[in-house]
Amino acid sequence: MNTSSSLDDVLGTLQRRYAVDFRQYRRRFLDRRIRARMHALGIGSYVHYARLLAEDPGEYESLLGALSINVSAFMRDPAAFDALREAALIPLVHERERCGMRHLAIWSAGCSKGEEPYSVAMLLLDLLGASCPRWHLTLHGSDVNAKVLDEARRGWYTADSFSDLEADYLARYFSPATDGFQIDRRVRDLVLWNRQDLRNPPPRVQYDVILCRNVLIYYDHLEQALMVAHLLDHLAPGGYLMLGMAEMVPAAHAQQLMPVNGKLRLYRKVALTEEG
Ligand SMILES: C[S@@+](CC[C@H](N)C(=O)[O-])C[C@H]1O[C@@H](n2cnc3c(N)ncnc32)[C@H](O)[C@@H]1O
Repeated sequence: MNTSSSLDDVLGTLQRRYAVDFRQYRRRFLDRRIRARMHALGIGSYVHYARLLAEDPGEYESLLGALSINVSAFMRDPAAFDALREAALIPLVHERERCGMRHLAIWSAGCSKGEEPYSVAMLLLDLLGASCPRWHLTLHGSDVNAKVLDEARRGWYTADSFSDLEADYLARYFSPATDGFQIDRRVRDLVLWNRQDLRNPPPRVQYDVILCRNVLIYYDHLEQALMVAHLLDHLAPGGYLMLGMAEMVPAAHAQQLMPVNGKLRLYRKVALTEEG
């Protein structure tokens, strides 16, 4: 069996039948997950699996779940969000207060259904408290997938999104809504959304903090390096970058990013000197 052309049968079916294009993702990743799905169903050939996918939208939903490309959660990896608050947001807020420049720009790149930028918004609301209206906050959430951004704008979530969230946040920032919870307007109003493929250069904005978590893992090394180069172009000198727990800074950019907490993947952009 020619493995690569057969995988293409499945990817082609996904594109024609469901208008989703997964060809950008690492083939080994796709191959492993799709084969696991086929194994679970007792299907031995990609051609048969492609046919099943074309006929059964339920299987398409199951495959999406197996690929888990859009999986996210509020305060996903709570220790990472603690580090973000303690080692990046608090120092930035204090520094800006000191020089009377109350502005902060933060970007959640590859934000899926919005749990990540909304988590940052909740941290900021808690940190700034009554002084929040006196701050100029720019909080952007972007993703390549327009459908997840529609869900982010809606701000309605089911239990899956709350696995890592302390009950206190749920009580303070959400209201119960049919079969789930609706995020409060004051959190929702802080975030602006836009569709953005990280393989292309983003619009010209400089951020103090960029989160790009659990996105690079789907790409090969060259594309990871390209994406991180784009992120670095938009990170202010001394700004903070947070990656996902399984992600590494590509070797080509290691000199530009100093670990603040290497284990939790929080880095700071080195301000280049005259010589370098
Ligand atoms: C697993 S989710 C991560 C969500 C969130 N950052 C987190 O860690 O919980 C990965 C997201 O990256 C998005 N993504 C994948 N490739 C992308 C690209 N080239 N540009 C922008 N977003 C991308 C996917 O659509 C998906 O919503």
